[in-house]
Amino acid sequence: MGQGRENWSGTLGFVLAAMGSAVGLGNVWRFSYITGEYGGAAFILVYLGCVVAVGIPIMIAELLIGRSTQRNAVGAFATLRPRSPWIMTGWLGVLTGFVLLSYYSVVGGWVLHYISLSIADGFAGQSTEATKQLFATLSASPALQVFWHAVFMAVTIWFVARGVSRGIEWGNKIMMPALFFMLCFLLVYALTTDGAAEGIAFLMTPHWDKISAKAVLEALGQAFFSLSIGMGTLVTYGSYLNRHTQLPRAVLFVAVSDTAIAILAGFVIFPLVFTFQLEPNAGPALIFETLPAAFGQLPFGQWIALLFFLLLTFAALSSAMPLLEVVVAYFIDEKGWSRTRASWVFGGVIFAVGIPSALDRGFFGFMDMLTTNYLLPVGGLLVALFAGWSMTHTERQAEVPARDLSSGLYLAWVFLLRFVAPAAVAVILLRSMGLF
Ligand code: PHE
Repeated sequence: MGQGRENWSGTLGFVLAAMGSAVGLGNVWRFSYITGEYGGAAFILVYLGCVVAVGIPIMIAELLIGRSTQRNAVGAFATLRPRSPWIMTGWLGVLTGFVLLSYYSVVGGWVLHYISLSIADGFAGQSTEATKQLFATLSASPALQVFWHAVFMAVTIWFVARGVSRGIEWGNKIMMPALFFMLCFLLVYALTTDGAAEGIAFLMTPHWDKISAKAVLEALGQAFFSLSIGMGTLVTYGSYLNRHTQLPRAVLFVAVSDTAIAILAGFVIFPLVFTFQLEPNAGPALIFETLPAAFGQLPFGQWIALLFFLLLTFAALSSAMPLLEVVVAYFIDEKGWSRTRASWVFGGVIFAVGIPSALDRGFFGFMDMLTTNYLLPVGGLLVALFAGWSMTHTERQAEVPARDLSSGLYLAWVFLLRFVAPAAVAVILLRSMGLF
């Protein structure tokens, strides 16, 4: 077991890859519109609570399961608890990889299309009505959507097929720093626009009246989505790690940077939204329909648009890679497939599964609802129960020794895994089933 298995080149490579997995469309596209809908700072505070109480404990648990077994999501549970139903947790992860990537790649395709529009200076001088029309035209064209979905999938497959350190890690080592610099540049730019003060005020003023039970549950679902937990991504990434990496530290770094990037993206988006009196609560279409109108009227808007959608492409690609990797690692470890074959075959299958999402917005919404409301929370619940109740202190402490986590924090972590995370997730699920 583990013989000849691929590995990250070191802690830095792993941390960048895990960051790449976490930082994705969720941070820019999803976080910004949900924050817009639920009223700024109050929502952000609730979100932070979810990250600390539920997200971080589950992230450490997933990594520990992967590293201790050096196996893919299914093999890891089979190794730790042979012939037990826990293996279903791994299966669920592989299934979620299929479903999530199939429609994630469609949005990745939209982003690529918007890069082409930016290059052609397609937003110049356009009103919001006109930029809405651009998105409607894309939505109405099956050929255009399937084409860009195919391009996005092909690039993802190419990285994954090259291997863990030669492909995924290498891609992240270029894309993550680039993303960070682009974000800083856009931030400085956005903060010098006329709407900056209003945008900042929007994000920093807590609207507690908007924090309903629904908002809290939305924050929790967003934490799962954004931290990439509940589907074996971190089990798989953890399986390429060696003993030197301190898991809690690495997780803290990834969770903090993921959250920081989501908030910084808000500081780019909302000043632009207010500069042109656009709707801050425009929903999922915010960055595709609303924001381009701002780009079209700003000085150097074409370049700003290009930078913004390039940033989004890097974020999307680095998150699509682990989704495919969960599936590919399973076929390599358990079925003896070559990496190249597994990547192209299952990348191809996922592309096909994604076509209906490209053609029909209703189906797209269904896939997103299925993933965020059911698959990720159930996966996270099972991981929390497994690591909290089925694993022993000895098993946990072999991967998370006192050197890495003081005894007080260790007990807090186990408490969160055993009680807080399962209770929180149970509430999301009951609500999704209409019991609230
Ligand atoms: N975290 C990614 C994002 O924010 C999405 C994702 C979820 C990626 C689960 C991998 C696994 O866009």
